[in-house]
Amino acid sequence: MKIGTLEIKHPVLLAPMAAVTDLPFRTICEEHGVGLTITEFLSAHALKAGASKTVDKMTPSLFDRPFGVQIFGRDVNAMITGATMACTIGASLIDINMGCPAKRVVAGACGSALMKEPTLAQELVSSIRQAIPEHIPITVKHRSGWDATSLNAPEFACAMVEAGACMITVHGRSRKQGFSGSTDLSIIRRVREAVPVDVPVVGNGDVTDVERYRQMKEETGCDAVMIGRGAMGNPWLFRRIVAIESGNIDPGPPTCQERVEVFQRHVELLYQQKSQRLIHEIRKASAWYAKGLYGANKFRQKAWSIDDCELLVTQATDYLKNQSECAA
Ligand SMILES: Cc1cc2nc3c(=O)[nH]c(=O)nc-3n(C[C@H](O)[C@H](O)[C@H](O)COP(=O)(O)O)c2cc1C
Repeated sequence: MKIGTLEIKHPVLLAPMAAVTDLPFRTICEEHGVGLTITEFLSAHALKAGASKTVDKMTPSLFDRPFGVQIFGRDVNAMITGATMACTIGASLIDINMGCPAKRVVAGACGSALMKEPTLAQELVSSIRQAIPEHIPITVKHRSGWDATSLNAPEFACAMVEAGACMITVHGRSRKQGFSGSTDLSIIRRVREAVPVDVPVVGNGDVTDVERYRQMKEETGCDAVMIGRGAMGNPWLFRRIVAIESGNIDPGPPTCQERVEVFQRHVELLYQQKSQRLIHEIRKASAWYAKGLYGANKFRQKAWSIDDCELLVTQATDYLKNQSECAA
């Protein structure tokens, strides 16, 4: 799939997720075939101010793999600074967040609040477009609209494309819905129908397995699918989708052994990349890989009571090894 001049191998993307899509998790997903990963949303204002907590989250993928940086804000100069910083570290694309429903973000009239201000949203896109090198695509991720009375995603997407965006991702829920209800595939279809054919439209929301991936593609006609929560502790979903898209047989869910190995690889990356709150990060990862397995709740409680990293890794490994129902 082509996003402007950027070619990605497989039409499946990892959704940007705050406190989730850090470098270790992005790397795990890349190792399972995801087409592109994007950093969590980074405040343009904080980037401009040089806030190390935010700047440190702007991390290039390992081994020169392509990656996107997502920024949010409403101040043109700050957005240009943020985008320029992303270009400097080698970002393959700049994604602009116009979908975040969080109170603190919309209180500052950023994220999904920009769907109520298409003229300013266009100005942000076109100003960044003029400020950064031509070959680096600008993309926009937004929701179906602000609320049920203003589902303006098709018009909004066209306005963003007119301003210079060369890929649109739509999460099929309104800001008001937050994460409740289910994603509306029909609005994603309407965006696909409205936007020029050479601009990829990415469908997002509730894709947690191969069946839902197929449904998203078939019912919306989208060019690619973006997966968030469904990939946490389940990077194999990317491997399965890539196999299907390449005309191969679905390799199915992981074996018990594979689950253990990928958990250990994830921990290895956490040790390499995280200098702070390592125990917290390992607990989080353990809980993801335990999701849906027998005794997961009890294991999670236990994991939260362990304060020693090595002990936690040993206990988590034992727990994952003892899952008979995920054995090959
Ligand atoms: C914990 C969490 C953090 C998120 N952070 C971001 C973010 O930083 N930027 C963004 O555009 N969307 C963010 N999202 C929304 C996701 O990218 C995605 O649109 C949404 O979760 C729906 O996709 P899914 O059903 O596949 O998870 C976040 C979602 C979750 C659950």
